[in-house]
Amino acid sequence: MDEAIGRYPPEHKRSAALPLLHFWQEHFGFISDEGVKWIAAKLDLQPINVLELATFYPMFRQQSAGKTHIRVCRTLSCAMAGSYRLMENLREAIGFEPKIDNHGTHNPISVSPDGNCSIEFVECLASCGTAPVCMIGETLHENVDPNSVVDLISNPQSEIRNPQSPHPLEHRLIFKNIGRAGWKIDIDTYIDNGGYEQLKKAVTMSRVDIVNELKTSGLRGRGGAGFPCGVKWSFIKPDEKKPIYLICNADESEPGTFKDRYIIHEDPHQLLEGILISCLALNARTAYIYIRGEFPEGAKILELAIEEARKHNFLGKNALGSGFDVEVYIHRGAGAYICGEETGLIESLEGKRAYPRIKPPYFPAVLGLYMCPTIVNNVETLCHVKHIIAMGGAKYAQLGRPNNTGTRIVCVSGDVQHPGYFEIEVGAVTMGQLIYEMAGGLKPGRMLKAVIPGGSSAKVLRADERFKIKDRQSDGSTIEREMSIDEIPMDFDSLTAAGSMAGSGGVIVLDDSRDMVWTLNNINEFYAHESCGQCTPCREGALWMKKITERMLHGGGVVEDPRTLKTIGDNIAGRTICAFGEACAWPTQSFVEKFPDEFASRAAKPVPPPLPPEYISEELTERETIPTTALAHDPGWEKAGSAGTI
Ligand SMILES: Cc1cc2nc3c(=O)[nH]c(=O)nc-3n(C[C@H](O)[C@H](O)[C@H](O)COP(=O)(O)O)c2cc1C
Ligand code: SF4
Ligand code: FES
Repeated sequence: MDEAIGRYPPEHKRSAALPLLHFWQEHFGFISDEGVKWIAAKLDLQPINVLELATFYPMFRQQSAGKTHIRVCRTLSCAMAGSYRLMENLREAIGFEPKIDNHGTHNPISVSPDGNCSIEFVECLASCGTAPVCMIGETLHENVDPNSVVDLISNPQSEIRNPQSPHPLEHRLIFKNIGRAGWKIDIDTYIDNGGYEQLKKAVTMSRVDIVNELKTSGLRGRGGAGFPCGVKWSFIKPDEKKPIYLICNADESEPGTFKDRYIIHEDPHQLLEGILISCLALNARTAYIYIRGEFPEGAKILELAIEEARKHNFLGKNALGSGFDVEVYIHRGAGAYICGEETGLIESLEGKRAYPRIKPPYFPAVLGLYMCPTIVNNVETLCHVKHIIAMGGAKYAQLGRPNNTGTRIVCVSGDVQHPGYFEIEVGAVTMGQLIYEMAGGLKPGRMLKAVIPGGSSAKVLRADERFKIKDRQSDGSTIEREMSIDEIPMDFDSLTAAGSMAGSGGVIVLDDSRDMVWTLNNINEFYAHESCGQCTPCREGALWMKKITERMLHGGGVVEDPRTLKTIGDNIAGRTICAFGEACAWPTQSFVEKFPDEFASRAAKPVPPPLPPEYISEELTERETIPTTALAHDPGWEKAGSAGTI
């Protein structure tokens, strides 16, 4: 416990709240009142400061789970691959009916009467390419057969798929070692293959030179927004007096994205080397790797890698004799998607609920962790740093396309024959090549219906659309071309021009068997569950959108629904503290606009009758039931009052 507290500055020991909650839960099974009080006392906090964490972060429980706890992913790619069936079959095999809450399919956890087993639905586990997946205890099970759950329960071993070997259209830098014969993840293997040479080189370079190489490389962040990395780094003042922090964002939770997990599992020292070079460039003496709570194995792998690197003096005091002291610590999240948003992440790292901060003024590079300048970069982005130092920024910039340089990992899941991750030169591969050549094409007899190209937040693209895309030439001029979905180059600018985004690189493919109302409803369930709740448009709107698509799905859709959905989306985007607002609005806005017939056909009922009369609050609290006018004609609305009460 004290070692965990020692990872944070003494005046910020509140940061240790999440690690202590993890310890408590691992030891005692759940977070009891006693645990809350004990942790609060240990960190000089009020119990409410700890209780608010135990209730905010979905991984923390306030009741015991079963001896075997199963988390089934219910998000899009897994749902498409049968995770709801998997859940049903598990329930049947274990023999109990789980509890369902009023707002969907999540908490509370259902525990079997004998206490042997418990089960819950969770959101994307960042393994969408091997859907459906579930975690049994701390172990991820991939490619689960929904129909053989008995084998699953009796087999404690994970079915981790062997890493993919490269496709000829790939250009591997980051994934160079993954799947290679003889590759092991220990530091000796890494060093034998040229590992930490770039850190040694960086030690001999000036900070300004490293940042300039990054700027020349044109590297854009791989976490979602695509912001130029060198530009972000140059926001740190050279004469900064406050401590500077680097945070590696390993929260990977955008549905459809599963690359950072593989980097961490298969080549942890590559990430560590990238982090250490970045620390040198930024003069950051402390780096935190914020890793999502659902990656317990990844956290252990990184802890081990850090210890190995320390023994070689790549980090710690006077790293490599450079006079530079640098420490890297692991910080585990606890299951909230909003921890991926950089300011939510910082709040979480400070031991609070992951409530994103308003920008301005809280741009992390100015007012970040502990109100100090902080650079937050994605796992993949930080790995590229090492290769940029190796190749030089100018040579790196020759990879890919102007303004879209380098390589990036795209993850393909959904209705393709061979889902998986592919490292491509940015823009050198088209959507058609990615789907039909690299991912093996669609299932037999199926046609492409739509693609979500950059994680579930990205606007959906219809297979039969025509897109006007401007090709940026190396001299800066542009040429406009009209193209089909298959011809779109997989790069930032082209996907933006197509009306969507490259985002986090998670490509979800939908074939003609998919019902778009069902698909959107699954996405809406995710966002309704994951909104942090600070902003009214996001908190309420995400839930309304989910309730409407769910109602449409179950036959209660009314003619106004598509328009209402669009209006709600329009009233969320641009009106919230963080970009989650756009992330949850874009799917609804685009699905409704691009598949109007499907939405209209699910919204055929007449407009609902007027709502029950309004009551003053005393009436509502004093009466057990409230009489309402009997509802006219629409059986879909019976819950609202056909029985005469609400
Ligand atoms: C709702 C939301 C979720 C996000 N989730 C992640 C995530 O899981 N991983 C990540 O690297 N970036 C995520 N981001 C982007 C981060 O806020 C931030 O831009 C990124 O970590 C910066 O790193 P980069 O410049 O290397 O891309 C998310 C952003 C939003 C708005
Ligand atoms: S937009 Fe949503 S997730 Fe972001 S701060 Fe507001 S309520 Fe929280
Ligand atoms: S792992 Fe299930 S959808 Fe991503």
